[in-house]
Amino acid sequence: MRACRREPVPHTPVWFMRQAGRSLPEYRQVREGIAMLDSCMRPDLVTEITLQPVRRHRVDAAIFFSDIVVPLKAIGLDLDIRPGVGPVVAEPIRSRADLERLRPLEPDDVHYVTEAVGLLTAELGTTPLIGFAGAPFTLASYLIEGGPSRNHERTKALMYGDPDLWRDLLDRLAGITATFLRVQIAAGASAVQLFDSWAGALAPQDYRRSVLPASTKVFDAVAGLGVPRIHFGVGTGELLHLMGQAGADVVGVDWRVPLDEAARRIGPGRAVQGNLDPAVLFAPHQVVQAKASEVLLAAKATEGHVFNLGHGVLPTTDPDALTRLVDFVHTTSQA
Ligand code: CP3
Repeated sequence: MRACRREPVPHTPVWFMRQAGRSLPEYRQVREGIAMLDSCMRPDLVTEITLQPVRRHRVDAAIFFSDIVVPLKAIGLDLDIRPGVGPVVAEPIRSRADLERLRPLEPDDVHYVTEAVGLLTAELGTTPLIGFAGAPFTLASYLIEGGPSRNHERTKALMYGDPDLWRDLLDRLAGITATFLRVQIAAGASAVQLFDSWAGALAPQDYRRSVLPASTKVFDAVAGLGVPRIHFGVGTGELLHLMGQAGADVVGVDWRVPLDEAARRIGPGRAVQGNLDPAVLFAPHQVVQAKASEVLLAAKATEGHVFNLGHGVLPTTDPDALTRLVDFVHTTSQA
């Protein structure tokens, strides 16, 4: 929390996107025979899975185990998460009539999230819990395409071709996302991260015109609640200054831009998060250490730094490599 607020820290804090997941044998064991979205609705399972990487790696924060599509499922959309594929939507949203299916999220729709966050904050003690949500653009892409997409062509066709419908769609998603974050904060989450994972597919002028207003609305809705707000996307080197403008306290950076350069692009008054390439963890331990040292060195030029990977932990990552990395970041940054 101090690093997010750009205050002095005893050592650089570290957590990993997708730290709770398939890289852990204990995760694969408890998830056996239980569908992804079903597991997100069981507070006992959510609590156990969220705590697993904290126990094993001694990371400085837990990330709430859920998924960006959980609030969309909660308002009644027919969608599923297919193993090895990702979210799949039965009836994609492509017209004004389709928009009516996107009703506002009520806190009670996700009562299991409130329950799980409550259980978790009791178990975690002083370790912060990071809540999260998908950003309007990334959610819109899944809803319009009907599933994961390489080129986001239907999404962009709607964005360019029907700006009024696009604006209304993103506005509704911003409302749903804001409620989902507020539920987690009200239940005790210490920080929140907005995942705009696929924003890097956009040119800056399109991001500014067509996406930034909706993401800003989300950050405004959770401003003044006393919790740091993190904003993350992949391939966003050319968008970093705009992502900072949306209102986050911390901007997450993937591995393509060094953190000192990223901080220059984001501008003053923001901390940074990142940004070791997740694939580096497949190299020998000395290489991991050398690359992590480069990240820590570049971060010295920033106002605040939370160590993370540049994107999520890859499922076949050796969990021991992650534990060693946490230890290395802690000891090296202490000096
Ligand atoms: O530690 C954590 O970060 C756990 C919580 C978490 C999950 N999904 C669990 C999950 C978070 C923060 C997410 C966010 C999420 N979901 C994003 C944004 C982050 C990112 O990666 O950019 C996105 C784009 C999604 C959509 C999604 N859900 C995808 C692309 C997939 C992978 C599909 C696959 O099997 O390859 C999912 C499923 C998912 N979400 C899994 C987990 C652990 C894997 C499902 C499983 O374990 O069976």
